[in-house]
Amino acid sequence: MERVGQERIVAPSVHQEDLEGEYSLRPRRLAEYIGQAQVKETISVFIQAARQRGEPLDHVLLFGPPGLGKTTLASIIAHELGVNIRITSGPAIDRPGDLAAILTNLAPGDVLFIDEIHRLSRQVEEVLYPAMEDFALDIIIGKGPGARSIRLDLPRFTLVGATTRAGLITSPLRDRFGVISRLEYYGVEDLTRIILRSARIMAVDIDPAGATEIACRARGTPRVANRLLRRVRDYAQVKAGGTITAAVAREALQFMEVDPLGLDSIDRRILRVIIQKFNGGPVGLDTIAASTGEEPGTLEDVYEPYLLQLGFIDRTPRGRVATPHAYRHLGLPVPGQQKALFD
Ligand SMILES: Nc1ncnc2c1ncn2[C@@H]1O[C@H](COP(=O)(O)OP(=O)(O)OP(=O)(O)O)[C@@H](O)[C@H]1O
Ligand SMILES: [Mg+2]
Repeated sequence: MERVGQERIVAPSVHQEDLEGEYSLRPRRLAEYIGQAQVKETISVFIQAARQRGEPLDHVLLFGPPGLGKTTLASIIAHELGVNIRITSGPAIDRPGDLAAILTNLAPGDVLFIDEIHRLSRQVEEVLYPAMEDFALDIIIGKGPGARSIRLDLPRFTLVGATTRAGLITSPLRDRFGVISRLEYYGVEDLTRIILRSARIMAVDIDPAGATEIACRARGTPRVANRLLRRVRDYAQVKAGGTITAAVAREALQFMEVDPLGLDSIDRRILRVIIQKFNGGPVGLDTIAASTGEEPGTLEDVYEPYLLQLGFIDRTPRGRVATPHAYRHLGLPVPGQQKALFD
């Protein structure tokens, strides 16, 4: 299940507005899926092999940060295989019986997509093991000493699991996947192509430089890229005659307080707290949380990953530290470098 995140324009989690039009912006075929060359190559080889043998595809585990295209890739896999996809998620499968019902309703070859698969309960996971390995369901009939187990055959299916936290997958579950692929943050070039493609579908007038301007601020994430595109389109329509040029994009993004690296005011506030209030750190997550008015969990899951990825903060055993890149980005003097400047 996709969570609907808070209304922060650069958040990688799903916003309500993403869902409108998400369907049409989603690539249907592997060839339309931009970037992630290695993942695409791997998946395409396995799909071709499975098709040639007339067998279902091996189970696939996709992991990577939110908004990089895991759900999209799962539907593409089903589409390329010419089978149906059944979509569910770890938290939605409460009891072993729920999973059994889903499994027994699959048609041969179908793709079962389980999002947030790291959130399956232990009992449900145990039903999944024989299902993945032997396409069988073990059912216990009766109670006490008279109880016996019977095995029910299932159609052969392909499980596609997705998770943002590969570290939380138990090893027995992980071992049952034949293909494990990690999605990476997208580079500016790929994001530019994604934005140009989305603009074409939305019939938005944009030039490549305008697309690149948005791509630079999309935090490596197609979902953020598409969302920024929609907002910039609105701005261009109202204030600039409709065409998104580099200048219009810059102006619009500045207006939304998204800076040239895609940081918003909260990201900058976090950096400023570490640098100005705590001398650049180390400072504990809880202390940063108290000083910024954000929840520690939100800081860790939502804000920190991108700041870490940019190399603006480091995690140390004693807390978070701001790096020289962060000082420079905010236009603040880097400590210990003032002297060098005057040498
Ligand atoms: N490679 C790609 N090419 C073009 N568009 C893409 C690509 N990957 C993702 N998108 C776009 O980004 C949006 C978000 O992708 P998707 O919902 O698949 O992300 P996700 O990884 O499943 O995120 P979450 O972890 O939040 O479930 C999609 O609607 C799609 O339009
Ligand atoms: Mg998803």
